[in-house]
Amino acid sequence: MATDKVSIHGAWVSRWVFILAATGSAVGLGNIWKFPYMTGMYGGGAFVAMYLVCIALIGVPIMLAETLIGRRGRQSPVNSMKALAAESGGSKLWPLAAVIGMVAALLILSFYSVVAGWSLDYIIGMGRGDFSGISPQGAGEAFGGLTSDPWRLTLWHTLFMVFTGFVIAKGVVAGLERSLRIMMPMLFVLLLMLLGYSLTTGHFMDGVRFLFHFDSSKVQEGILAAMGHAFFTLSVGVGSIMVYGSYMPKKSSIGATVLTVGLLDTVVALTAGLALFPIVFAAGLEPSGGPGLMFVTLPIAFGNIAFGQIAGLVFFVLVALAAWSSSISMLEPAVAYFVERTGRSRAVVTSTLAFFCWLVGMGTVLSFNVGADAKFFVFANDGFHLFQWGAEGGKNFFEGIDYLTSRLLLPLGGLSFALFAGWVMTREAVRDELSISSPVLFNVALWLIRVVAPIGVLIVFVAELTK
Ligand code: PHE
Repeated sequence: MATDKVSIHGAWVSRWVFILAATGSAVGLGNIWKFPYMTGMYGGGAFVAMYLVCIALIGVPIMLAETLIGRRGRQSPVNSMKALAAESGGSKLWPLAAVIGMVAALLILSFYSVVAGWSLDYIIGMGRGDFSGISPQGAGEAFGGLTSDPWRLTLWHTLFMVFTGFVIAKGVVAGLERSLRIMMPMLFVLLLMLLGYSLTTGHFMDGVRFLFHFDSSKVQEGILAAMGHAFFTLSVGVGSIMVYGSYMPKKSSIGATVLTVGLLDTVVALTAGLALFPIVFAAGLEPSGGPGLMFVTLPIAFGNIAFGQIAGLVFFVLVALAAWSSSISMLEPAVAYFVERTGRSRAVVTSTLAFFCWLVGMGTVLSFNVGADAKFFVFANDGFHLFQWGAEGGKNFFEGIDYLTSRLLLPLGGLSFALFAGWVMTREAVRDELSISSPVLFNVALWLIRVVAPIGVLIVFVAELTK
């Protein structure tokens, strides 16, 4: 039924553009910034192994589910799920999953924009030659200098949000293709260059060992973190891939497309890890250094190689662009929905939503300096506090939003999308959308969506709760 319609928001001209856009969404700060520091915080190989398992058995199947829901619904995630639930007689509550996803995506954007802002600041720093010949200690101080200055952070955060809003307001389909076609391969080439530098540090094998040495005693500790990151890095669980799926042309195979995106995303993350950790060890830095890891490590590399100034500049430009093509996909589900609902222009809807995200993002800006003592989710001797000023434990604003989204909302959203595609949509609808000709492969795909991914999410939640 709804299959031949075209979304009012536009359509990709081919499957390749969907691959580009979805890869643009998936590859971003999650791969280059977050993956290495999470791996460092959760002890290396065990985290990486869990992450890879989660990508294959949970993330990719859910990406498949999202894409096919979107392509069949041809509207914003909320309205697609509404239409498809009605079509198959499912509960009216299903679209709620897309509403939660939409909110989660906006919350992610709020802090994502701040971190993307760091890379804008580093573009300038690189260009000015601030990092030439810098020592590990100097790099740490430079990063501290940035994060302790709320005004500087606000400036870049604001600028990045404006850039993001600009493309969205013009329409995603039009602007994205051209920039991504050049940017993605360039980013990869620069990552390979960094990898080349890592090979010369004399600590390359330490990096490899750290990333791939499997220590089973560390599995349970980082299991929810690994699954949450699998969702985050693939952009699944929030409706971003679903909304891109709704712009996908009908006659193209979803399965191969989704596998390609999953593979590219994983390759970029592993390459970033392999490039970064040897530098971390060579410089005597702590792998568990947290969110600053990449911003402290890379200046050391670029500051000490020939043409490092220009290479570093290009690298941070590419990081900012990769972040930008991801942040667009965070805003798009909500923009599509409110355009459908209110009939207002993309420009009006985008500016309103971007302002909201900007405001919430100010919480993250302040959590690195004057607001560092504002703590959420505090488990203390006298019980649980949602908020406490100056508490020992707990999470600051940035950590709190990151935790809420990656570890809770994304997995729950993804679980709902898989259950919806697997059990609520009819088998015929799913078969029609997937258009996999081999019955065996079709059954494998359906089984992954229906059973493996949902049970996987539940197992991880149980493992986390019992640790
Ligand atoms: N996948 C993106 C990254 O790795 C982040 C993202 C999360 C994008 C959720 C969209 C939705 O940087």
